[in-house]
Amino acid sequence: MDPPTFTALVTGSSSGIGEATAWRLSRIPGARLVLVARREDRLRDLVSRLPVPATYIAIDLTEEDAPGRILARVQEHHDRLDLLVNNAGASWRGTFSDEGYDNVRRTMDLNFDSLVRLTEAMLPMLRASAPSSIVNVASTASRISRAGAGAYSASKYAVAGWTDALHLEERANGVHVGLVLPGFVKTEGFPADELTGKLATRWLVTSADKAAEAIYEAGPGGKAERYVPRPYVLVAVLKVLAPGLMRRVLGGAAGEMVVTKTGADAADRAKQNQG
Ligand SMILES: NC(=O)c1ccc[n+]([C@@H]2O[C@H](COP(=O)([O-])OP(=O)(O)OC[C@H]3O[C@@H](n4cnc5c(N)ncnc54)[C@H](OP(=O)(O)O)[C@@H]3O)[C@@H](O)[C@H]2O)c1
Repeated sequence: MDPPTFTALVTGSSSGIGEATAWRLSRIPGARLVLVARREDRLRDLVSRLPVPATYIAIDLTEEDAPGRILARVQEHHDRLDLLVNNAGASWRGTFSDEGYDNVRRTMDLNFDSLVRLTEAMLPMLRASAPSSIVNVASTASRISRAGAGAYSASKYAVAGWTDALHLEERANGVHVGLVLPGFVKTEGFPADELTGKLATRWLVTSADKAAEAIYEAGPGGKAERYVPRPYVLVAVLKVLAPGLMRRVLGGAAGEMVVTKTGADAADRAKQNQG
């Protein structure tokens, strides 16, 4: 008899938390990985270094036909799917008055709609492979909003709300649905240089490996949700118990301190400079 396999699909695995997740999942006996992101060179390199069988699909998840193309590729190479990690995401900063609906739309497109559409495509395969799991990567921004990050928070609140319902719906089908809520994790998309540069705030920032471990726990580990690092749960508790206080804190110097620059904004600026 062939040894059991564990097939996992990880979106946003060309860098940061997704890449760390690929390494974490490669420690599962029988692991086979399918890695998804846009940068093909990154994915090809990662696949060549991982110690387990892995393939990649270089695709923009916001494209209309992305879910169907991903499903077809997975079915071509695998007869089951044990874990879907919906991790790809980005944040473009800016107030609503400056950036408007366009910024809300593009953020929702990537962080929420593409996640929902991919889940819809992969769900029959996950059910057929039950017990299996889905992990949706949300954010502490799913519980609190900061000025200049409203579009991002809206998309991540949506992910958290939708995840809770899906969990209840899919329980009977043997598909566990977990949620991961990272705080500040140093990655290309979220460099957090403003925080790591100061002794007073350095402790707020954690590593992608810690987030990857939380993804494992919220998936095959069967946990409902995991904050990264764990004490960030206090932010969510405070928001519920003392919303007025939270608004005052976030409206003051502490609020300004935690609005960090993002990789997506840097990429936009680089594109504008080229054009
Ligand atoms: N780091 C943090 O502080 C933090 C905090 C809370 C939540 N999160 C969440 O964690 C997740 C991972 O972020 P990260 O910190 O690891 O940032 P990252 O290093 O920038 O990773 C984002 C990943 O998403 C992929 N991606 C972006 N747009 C895509 C698109 N249109 N189609 C396909 N793939 C796309 C990127 O790959 P390509 O560019 O190659 O496509 C990359 O692999 C995100 O959902 C983020 O919101 C991060």
